[in-house]
Amino acid sequence: MSEQTRFLLNESDLPKFWYNVMADSPVAPNPVLRPDTLEPVTPDFLSVLFPMELIMQEVSTEQYIEIPEELRKIYKLYRPPPLLPARRLEKALGTPAHIYYKYEGVSPAGSHKPNTAIAQAFYNKVGGTKALTTETGAGQWGSALAMACKMFDLDLEVYMVKVSYNQKPYRRIFMQTFGAQVYASPTGRTNYGRSLLEQDPDNPGSLGIAISEAVEVAATSGGAKKYSLGSVLNHVLMHQSVIGEEALKQMDMAGEYPDVVIGCTGGGSNFAGIAYPFLRENLKNGQRTRLLAVEPSASPSLTKGTFTFDYGDTAKMGPVVKMHTLGHGFVPPSIHAGGLRYHGMAPSMSAFVDAGLIDAVAVPQKATFEAAIQFAHAEGIVPAPESSHAIRAAIEEALDAKAKDEKRVILFNLSGHGNFDMAAYDSYLSGKLEDYEYPAEDVEAAMKELPQVNLPA
Ligand SMILES: Cc1ncc(COP(=O)(O)O)c(C=O)c1O
Repeated sequence: MSEQTRFLLNESDLPKFWYNVMADSPVAPNPVLRPDTLEPVTPDFLSVLFPMELIMQEVSTEQYIEIPEELRKIYKLYRPPPLLPARRLEKALGTPAHIYYKYEGVSPAGSHKPNTAIAQAFYNKVGGTKALTTETGAGQWGSALAMACKMFDLDLEVYMVKVSYNQKPYRRIFMQTFGAQVYASPTGRTNYGRSLLEQDPDNPGSLGIAISEAVEVAATSGGAKKYSLGSVLNHVLMHQSVIGEEALKQMDMAGEYPDVVIGCTGGGSNFAGIAYPFLRENLKNGQRTRLLAVEPSASPSLTKGTFTFDYGDTAKMGPVVKMHTLGHGFVPPSIHAGGLRYHGMAPSMSAFVDAGLIDAVAVPQKATFEAAIQFAHAEGIVPAPESSHAIRAAIEEALDAKAKDEKRVILFNLSGHGNFDMAAYDSYLSGKLEDYEYPAEDVEAAMKELPQVNLPA
């Protein structure tokens, strides 16, 4: 093993292509359905929301799609980020395992989200879009898209889940600094938001609701605004593949190959970003790396949800897809501080978990913050609460290797820093954070509202 502390690639090593796992997928893709008719979508339905170039990427089965030169130049502002061996953490754990992390927190917005935000802003600009709408939960996605929209001179409206809007004023200000208009969702600006506020003026919001508002604004704008999503969709996951492609080269520089690759999962994009290039190596080149997705036990779509067709948003305005879901009406508790609150999961990831190509575990939030602090003490980075789910699982793997006296090579994606997440850290440090049991009854109720899909066999 090399003694080097950081494995750095040159600018010229930045991938020239995104990897599209759909080309190598051993499971047939399921159709994407219209929410009104539950019939397969056509490009015209999607073109209300997305520019044509992204729609083509969404349905593409090409193995590689070229990254335009103009976009690569912007990626080079922060890519390729380093791969670091977590030697101090290994020492603190006393493990024979070798732990590596790919650090996406070095991007200007502090997470992996710019990898797709910049690409989506670029293709919207090329397609003639003037303004975008989006949702954001904890604010990382909104921050990335605000930065990217400014680079391409696009207006942006962000519907931010109300509980996060109140807990994270600095994320809101970050977005506003880049000229975005940020609203606490549910808002009085949409029919759907108004209907929810009439029932409950204190509705804390959810990602599903914020998506519905952003979709409603774009869909009723007469073509003036398009919508942008920060996870879940095939094209978004594909844009993130630069993470894994670089990590493959960096692991090679380190002279090791991972036995396990770990990422946290909200909608699946950072996990897919690091893991799908390794999945390709498993499928095509005989590697046997275990791919491990980590979710919070308060919102456990992969480990406790059902793999079925469901609406992507609460108001049933966006497409219906087959995914692991807790039900589109499921609202995770506001006390859950660890992010990752979406009710569903990327369809490709859901299918791969179902097919046994990817494993999934759920971790409780106190253990997640404990791992975050242990990591910060050893490595000096305060991780995003979302990413800390991956750290928890990486530590468990390292301790398991120790118990079995086994050398194991562990790679995880550190998808962002937590410098704007001090309110969540404060809750943990002051002992206010509680573990929240999986709300089985709420999920059972939400599952009664699934769409009745009857596709021809
Ligand atoms: C830092 C960070 N990591 C991970 C996620 C989860 O999203 P995804 O599963 O799409 O990577 C988020 C979501 O906002 C995030 O901010």
